[in-house]
Amino acid sequence: MSDVNRQFLLAARPVGKIKESDLAAHQGEIPSPEDGEVLVQVQYISLDPSMRGQMQAAVAYSAALQIGDVMRARGVGRVVESRNPGFPEGALVSGTFGMQEFAIGNAKVDRFRRFADDLDAKLVLGALGGTGITAYFGLLDVGEPEAGDTVVISGAAGATGSVAGQIANIKGCRVVGMAGTDDKCTWLTEELGFAGAINYRTQDIGAELDRLCPDGINVYFDNVGGEILDLCLDRLAHHARVVICGGISRYNEEGELPGPKNYFNLIYYCARMQGFLAHDYADRFDEFYPQMEQWVRSGEIKQRETVVEGFQNLPKALVALFDGANTGKMMVHVS
Ligand SMILES: NC(=O)c1ccc[n+]([C@@H]2O[C@H](COP(=O)([O-])OP(=O)(O)OC[C@H]3O[C@@H](n4cnc5c(N)ncnc54)[C@H](OP(=O)(O)O)[C@@H]3O)[C@@H](O)[C@H]2O)c1
Repeated sequence: MSDVNRQFLLAARPVGKIKESDLAAHQGEIPSPEDGEVLVQVQYISLDPSMRGQMQAAVAYSAALQIGDVMRARGVGRVVESRNPGFPEGALVSGTFGMQEFAIGNAKVDRFRRFADDLDAKLVLGALGGTGITAYFGLLDVGEPEAGDTVVISGAAGATGSVAGQIANIKGCRVVGMAGTDDKCTWLTEELGFAGAINYRTQDIGAELDRLCPDGINVYFDNVGGEILDLCLDRLAHHARVVICGGISRYNEEGELPGPKNYFNLIYYCARMQGFLAHDYADRFDEFYPQMEQWVRSGEIKQRETVVEGFQNLPKALVALFDGANTGKMMVHVS
């Protein structure tokens, strides 16, 4: 085991696109656990679009990060020292460990979660982690899909979108995805069973939506916002549900953002548009875990990851997430 704890600290609040220099490398000490605490050696660190909001202290749902704090990040790893019998040495755990090689916490207070030892740690950051929770509750609880519905998903080849689309397939829907490269679109249709895919960078999105959704969109699961949201609002079916999961196309923009220009269609189509936060469903996570584990173990839900090697590449990987470098879940392999 190393004798230093490599970390990345928040060095600057991003202006426009995140820069690698917004994070600063640092060497901390490896702490020792006290009663009830565990020390985790982190194996994989998750990269999430919401990190930009965290860096800007712009998110309402968690305490503001200060300059000089360890950058907040979800991670998965193994317990290497334990003073908590529920989390023995060797246990596979996830938590908000931060961008560092070793994390300490009181498993209960800090909401560490233990997983079956035989699970692939990468699943714990993807389908079986926050990604899966977001896709599951966002699609099923907010989107309320019914068999035969046409479900459109933007950011469909990303972590959340690819899982949401597969859940919609399981529920008997016709799924159309949007993604930023032809390879991503081919993955959606050839491997994940989407009925159609649109390369939003090269194709006429409106014309493709008209072709692939002739009876309108019953559920739109929005990860990107902006123009794509407007185009979907123009093609709603009666009683459609619009799930506002995220809006990554706008995260790097400064100043006041324009709203959807055609939200009156919610009236004309008697439709509903609703945002949600994954952690708002904390009291229902026990419903999610066994169902998702069964889907993953049976192969009904497939996970793909883009794994960047090496702790030192965390800032680079975070920047690359916003350039669409990932297919599926973006993460850095730390140890
Ligand atoms: N509500 C919640 O509780 C919750 C929880 C987690 C995540 N989210 C949101 O869910 C969305 C997806 O998150 P994720 O973790 O699964 O990330 P992700 O989709 O795996 O990665 C981000 C993807 O966004 C796409 N993208 C980047 N810039 C874009 C742009 N200008 N227009 C359209 N697409 C763009 C890129 O793919 P392309 O190649 O296709 O461009 C990139 O791969 C984000 O908006 C995130 O904030 C919400």
